[in-house]
Amino acid sequence: MAESGAWWRQGIFYQIYPRSFQDSDGDGVGDLAGIVHRLPYLLTLGVDAIWLSPIFTSPMADFGYDISDYTGIDPLFGTMEDFDALVRAAHESGLKVILDLVPNHTSDRHPWFVEARRSRDNPRRDWYIWRDPKPDGGPPNNWLSEFGGSAWQYDQATGQYYYHAFLAQQPDLNWRNPAVRAAVYDVMRFWLRKGVDGFRVDVIWHLIKDAEFRDNPANPGYIEGRPPHERILPRHSTDQPEVHQVIAEMRKVLDAFGDRVLIGEIYLPIERLMAYYGKDLSGAHLPFNFALLSAPWHARDIERIIAEYETALPPGAWPNWVLGNHDRPRVASRVGAEQARVAAMLLLTLRGTPTLYYGDEIGMRQVAIAPDGVRDPFEKNVPGIGVGRDGCRTPMQWNATPNAGFSTAAPWLPVAEDFMHENVVNLTADKRSILNLYRALIRLRKRHVALVAGHYRPVAAEGDLLLYRRDGEGEILTIALNLGDDPVSLATEGSGLEGQILLSTHLDRDGEPIHGTLDLRGNEGVVIGRSL
Ligand code: GLC
Ligand code: MG
Repeated sequence: MAESGAWWRQGIFYQIYPRSFQDSDGDGVGDLAGIVHRLPYLLTLGVDAIWLSPIFTSPMADFGYDISDYTGIDPLFGTMEDFDALVRAAHESGLKVILDLVPNHTSDRHPWFVEARRSRDNPRRDWYIWRDPKPDGGPPNNWLSEFGGSAWQYDQATGQYYYHAFLAQQPDLNWRNPAVRAAVYDVMRFWLRKGVDGFRVDVIWHLIKDAEFRDNPANPGYIEGRPPHERILPRHSTDQPEVHQVIAEMRKVLDAFGDRVLIGEIYLPIERLMAYYGKDLSGAHLPFNFALLSAPWHARDIERIIAEYETALPPGAWPNWVLGNHDRPRVASRVGAEQARVAAMLLLTLRGTPTLYYGDEIGMRQVAIAPDGVRDPFEKNVPGIGVGRDGCRTPMQWNATPNAGFSTAAPWLPVAEDFMHENVVNLTADKRSILNLYRALIRLRKRHVALVAGHYRPVAAEGDLLLYRRDGEGEILTIALNLGDDPVSLATEGSGLEGQILLSTHLDRDGEPIHGTLDLRGNEGVVIGRSL
């Protein structure tokens, strides 16, 4: 069995979008004191680590992913005392705390950028990426912003363009400049000294750009209706070989503090993703594996994705899986409420660290946002094609009181209409709810070492059935997931499928022995256990 000792291998991560988790001061926006208040909930859920989306000083053009002070807490979220109290309370409860590090870009109000744009010879000028206009006055090359339009913003005062992979209010730092690296590594040390257990590094594959700023090639596979930046392939603007040296440096900074974790946000095909583990695993511990976020929800597709991923992993590299985050539509809306339960079983029985997105455990769905209620700058810049991220960032549904117990004030985004039923209190009381399924799955994963450290072994299956085994430490667990609406029946004789049902997604078959046939209802998944 693979070495599974480290906490970030054994644990279950939970992403909190702080604006939407719990408001404590009645301003309609979630905050740090709110998170402290809800730690007991996370303990009953059974997760081991929380990752907080950015809580740092920010003008909030991209809701905290535009930082103007890397070592300050935005007053909207509280104070540094609140932060210290959160880390203390979390650690006392045995929860690790992971912060979001956003090194690719700052806010345009960050003092570094304010200085950089003052003049061409300002000492901070080269901390960002400046280029002269083309002879016709146009942008230096054809690179596009992920949030629409050119990635170059003209600066009237100094007559040059600066590069921004996202909003114009998010100028990219120049990671080829050693001073920038040193400054961000100091930021890391600041938080590590405060006791944080690691970082999720924002758009880590963007950090280094082509030294010559060559034009990107057109994307022959562009699909009409997709975001406009997909019209070109980001060949020269992202995923450059030199980025791995930077990540190895970050890893060294982290390793000097002992047992911490480095997670990379990377949207790349599986074969490119693997490079982010670094040479001899000197890179990210966990390059986020987002393959399930865009997977067609069919048994054979999922089976193939798992196989590709497992096969591609470098020796010793630890896998990880993600079903949702603050940038992608909610899983319950992608696959439907019934399959969301099957997806939960998949996430918590695959080999590798699972990351849960807040609210997915109560089956939260994409919330429709009225056109005049849109907050996401991506949707504002590129309206009408469904890129908006507000719908997956709505307030956590705690109970049936006004605003779902999230806030005493009108929340910054609307609460889902179904919150009267779909909330933590109600779903806790409902024995067969998705929330209780999540709790049962997490308990199961803790009780059966094979689910954490066992091998992953695919088992041939047909149609809507996804079948695999996790074995090791004296037991074999078989996971059978029905990704369709119709019942599935399977002869188990001689197949090694015999055993006892440890858990069904319907939460009503515990202990049932399996002999001869395994019958699954539509949209049902089961874990079958057998001792060796
Ligand atoms: C990452 C974040 C996303 C943000 C973008 C720019 O993809 O997850 O929310 O908008 O980076 O920082
Ligand atoms: Mg608040």
